[in-house]
Amino acid sequence: MKGQSAERIQSLFPVLLASLLVLGTAQLVFDSLKSGKSYVFQYYGKPAKLRKSVFVLPEDRMDESCNLFEGKWVWDNVSYPLYEENSCPYLVKQTTCLKNGRPDSFYQNWRWQPHACNLPRFDPLKLLDILRDKRLMFIGDSVQRAQFESMVCLVQSVVPKGKKSFKRDPPRKIFKAKEYNATIEYYWAPFIVESISDHATNHTVLKRLVNLDSISKHGKSWEGVDVLVFESYVWWMYRPQINATYGSMEDVQEYNVTTAYRIAMETWGNWLESTINPHLQKVFFMSMSPTHLWSWEWKPGSRGNCFNESYPILGSYWGTGSNLAIMEILHEVLQDLKINVTFLNITQLAEYRKDAHTTVFGERRGKLLTKEQKADPLNFADCIHWCLPGVPDTWNEILYAYLLQSYQNFL
Ligand SMILES: *[C@@H]1O[C@H](CO)[C@@H](O)[C@H](O)[C@H]1NC(C)=O
Ligand SMILES: *[C@@H]1O[C@H](CO)[C@@H](O)[C@H](O)[C@H]1NC(C)=O
Ligand SMILES: *[C@@H]1O[C@H](CO)[C@@H](O)[C@H](O)[C@H]1NC(C)=O
Ligand SMILES: *[C@@H]1O[C@H](CO)[C@@H](O)[C@H](O)[C@H]1NC(C)=O
Ligand SMILES: *[C@@H]1O[C@H](CO)[C@@H](O)[C@H](O)[C@H]1NC(C)=O
Ligand SMILES: *[C@@H]1O[C@H](CO)[C@@H](O)[C@H](O)[C@H]1NC(C)=O
Ligand SMILES: *[C@@H]1O[C@H](CO)[C@@H](O)[C@H](O)[C@H]1NC(C)=O
Ligand SMILES: *[C@@H]1O[C@H](CO)[C@@H](O)[C@H](O)[C@H]1NC(C)=O
Repeated sequence: MKGQSAERIQSLFPVLLASLLVLGTAQLVFDSLKSGKSYVFQYYGKPAKLRKSVFVLPEDRMDESCNLFEGKWVWDNVSYPLYEENSCPYLVKQTTCLKNGRPDSFYQNWRWQPHACNLPRFDPLKLLDILRDKRLMFIGDSVQRAQFESMVCLVQSVVPKGKKSFKRDPPRKIFKAKEYNATIEYYWAPFIVESISDHATNHTVLKRLVNLDSISKHGKSWEGVDVLVFESYVWWMYRPQINATYGSMEDVQEYNVTTAYRIAMETWGNWLESTINPHLQKVFFMSMSPTHLWSWEWKPGSRGNCFNESYPILGSYWGTGSNLAIMEILHEVLQDLKINVTFLNITQLAEYRKDAHTTVFGERRGKLLTKEQKADPLNFADCIHWCLPGVPDTWNEILYAYLLQSYQNFL
């Protein structure tokens, strides 16, 4: 049953595959808002009550004005990857691209270099110190699950056998470092608010129905969690409209996705404001994870997708899959909140990484692709999910940088 449940969660992909073209259609329908200058808003103030402070080396201190999201990828096969694919027992088949036959591993060897400062070196022991007696929870869809797995892999090698555990308790997955009494958790909630796709192992995928004003069932499981990291995007982007309820569960209506997304985020915001203790809890929101479905976007005239791409895009690039209207809604909703939510704007840095998706070296309906499917990347390449080690590790390095900053010892 355990194995089965793991596989079921991963079966999200076929739907996404089915929706690939639709994602494109949706994009044409939305008005793209003009992009403003990117900036990071709402850094945390210092937590009022720290149980323990963590010593931060001078070189790991960051200038608060540094924008970690503006930078470039640099080749670094000395320090990267930060862990080996086969050394982390918690990776699901969906992300283990080398094991699944991917011939090149260059995608593992790039380091994100912000223009204005350096990211602190990821130190798993320091993170565990930060997380002592705490819970860190990732909430969202399968992209978010990869970020959870990445975080577990980044940390688990420093925890000896017998001192760690991994448990599946749908819709949650929980890694625990026992000596630290620290957990890193995942919670399946593809729309954040409630929906008919909430069953972690048996969710409807083609049919979507979101309850825009319902969050309390989920919220009960998030209460009191010390660090919450939310994400929700790709499940909304199936069609330009989405079926949803507001108020009566019987009253199903089609909403424009942007309208529905805003209402859902406001429901979430109200939940945060009524539940979160900003002195004890921290909240992050991940911006959209980009897709690379059409190679003509970065290679005019070509007709492929992300398959067979082995280098990042150099120079400026923003694909049509990353909807700026959604970005703007997030910006507005977060700005209006009475509590601080740190928005990790990872979309641009991941936009460059057309080389880092699972392509045909992932899964479909919980199974690795057959030889025939692998030979047909136009129809079967997954250009939504990411190989691990890979891009989600960088998201976690950035999350780590923020956590370090919040908990550092200001001596
Ligand atoms: C996130 O970054 C992108 C690209 O730099 C930018 O266009 C967008 O405005 C940023 N979003 C927010 C909410 O700051
Ligand atoms: C949010 O963070 C800012 C900047 O760190 C701080 O000045 C402000 O007091 C914080 N607001 C709340 C409500 O915690
Ligand atoms: C690292 O990259 C350099 C430059 O491409 C190459 O010469 C070297 O062989 C690589 N080292 C390893 C261990 O792959
Ligand atoms: C372990 O951590 C949890 C929070 O994650 C906390 O409620 C509990 O008190 C901690 N246990 C001990 C023995 O400190
Ligand atoms: C999955 O959900 C559907 C619809 O709710 C149900 O008919 C089916 O029996 C479920 N399958 C399993 C294995 O639980
Ligand atoms: C909403 O649900 C109805 C009835 O199931 C269906 O016909 C329609 O296509 C759905 N709309 C969307 C946008 O999915
Ligand atoms: C939904 O989107 C369409 C197309 O962008 C637009 O014409 C329509 O006015 C929108 N409807 C609502 C209720 O916002
Ligand atoms: C992959 O790319 C290489 C070089 O860019 C090319 O020679 C090769 O034919 C491509 N393979 C496929 C299957 O598209």
